[in-house]
Amino acid sequence: MALADCRIVDLPKIGDHRGNLTFIEGFKHIPFGIERVYYLYDFPGGAERGAHGHRTLQQLFVAMSGSFDVVLDDAFETRTFHMNRSHYGLYVAPMIWRNITNVSSEAVLMVLASERYDESDYIRDYDEFMKAAGRS
Ligand code: TYD
Repeated sequence: MALADCRIVDLPKIGDHRGNLTFIEGFKHIPFGIERVYYLYDFPGGAERGAHGHRTLQQLFVAMSGSFDVVLDDAFETRTFHMNRSHYGLYVAPMIWRNITNVSSEAVLMVLASERYDESDYIRDYDEFMKAAGRS
């Protein structure tokens, strides 16, 4: 998988005088079925998260509140996505190293994932990630 497979998904947004509503359906707005949802919140100042890759997991990152940057790295190039709107999702393909930085104090990051939690799917060592991605 390459960075070119990662992309911003413009999710449906239905707005009226009561506010906005956004929804996400598996295999429709994203290319996987949703097996797990988790969210990161109450970030302490200066906190960074991520710093790992996944062998097979597909994910969608959504800024439910606040803002943050997601730095994606496919072992050949990096790209930074600034997330600050709840109707945009960032699709993260397998075999992408990710760092979450510049997190605002009120940020809530929701992640939709294609699989249940499985520690064996993680690559937490960058050198190991580079090797697994075809760079030694
Ligand atoms: P981790 O994936 O390291 O967090 P981040 O992606 O922000 O770096 O997860 C932190 C801890 O939470 C780790 O002990 C594993 C656990 N965890 C679960 O039990 N289930 C989950 O779905 C997730 C994402 C993490």
